[in-house]
Amino acid sequence: MDKKVIKEYQDYINKIGNRKELYKTVADEYDIKTAIYPGSHIDIAPSMFIPKVIYIDNFKGAIKFFKQLDSIKEYIEENKEYSTPAEINFLGQDYNQPLEIEEVDLIISQYAGFVGQAAKDSLKIGGILLCNDSHGDASLAKHDQDYKLIAVIENNKIKKDNLDKYFKLANGKPVDIKQLKEKMKGLKYEKMAGNYLFRKVK
Ligand SMILES: C[S@@+](CC[C@H](N)C(=O)[O-])C[C@H]1O[C@@H](n2cnc3c(N)ncnc32)[C@H](O)[C@@H]1O
Repeated sequence: MDKKVIKEYQDYINKIGNRKELYKTVADEYDIKTAIYPGSHIDIAPSMFIPKVIYIDNFKGAIKFFKQLDSIKEYIEENKEYSTPAEINFLGQDYNQPLEIEEVDLIISQYAGFVGQAAKDSLKIGGILLCNDSHGDASLAKHDQDYKLIAVIENNKIKKDNLDKYFKLANGKPVDIKQLKEKMKGLKYEKMAGNYLFRKVK
């Protein structure tokens, strides 16, 4: 195993914070077996809980990292929490370009733009979008008829009640979707969560 690539990953999670509990919570609750993670950079934690994950990123640092796929797989095999072999793939491309992949159970969207929109066709009907609103991806999903808000996540706990309290602006005005797309920045709502879960309903 190339220890340098594992050190690079560990340094990265020390910086971004540990997301393992978040991914485990979602994978367990919705019995997730396959996922894509557009704009993943080198956050490989989903593979600890989800047997098949495709990571997608066009940044050259991420492309270099995933060249060490054998070492990454070895590390995941040692640390994963399921018994089947891990399938890990990487696409070093713009996620807005067509993705030649089978439909998956989950899209992961974390701080990487409008992933839930760009990758929607790769999600099964009934599949889940896990996203935050850092760049406004959750706000777009909330206003997209193809998605239904089914839960929020706070401190790695899934909450399914009072969902109608989220995505409300203090001044009562509707969200300006055109402006949101231009600015690519989440809005300040009266009630907000760290992460949101949407189901693809059509
Ligand atoms: C701020 S980082 C977040 C990385 C990771 N999701 C996390 O939360 O730790 C955003 C990542 O998204 C990638 N990204 C942004 N737009 C992209 C696009 N259109 N296609 C592929 N990757 C993209 C960037 O290269 C970068 O690695």
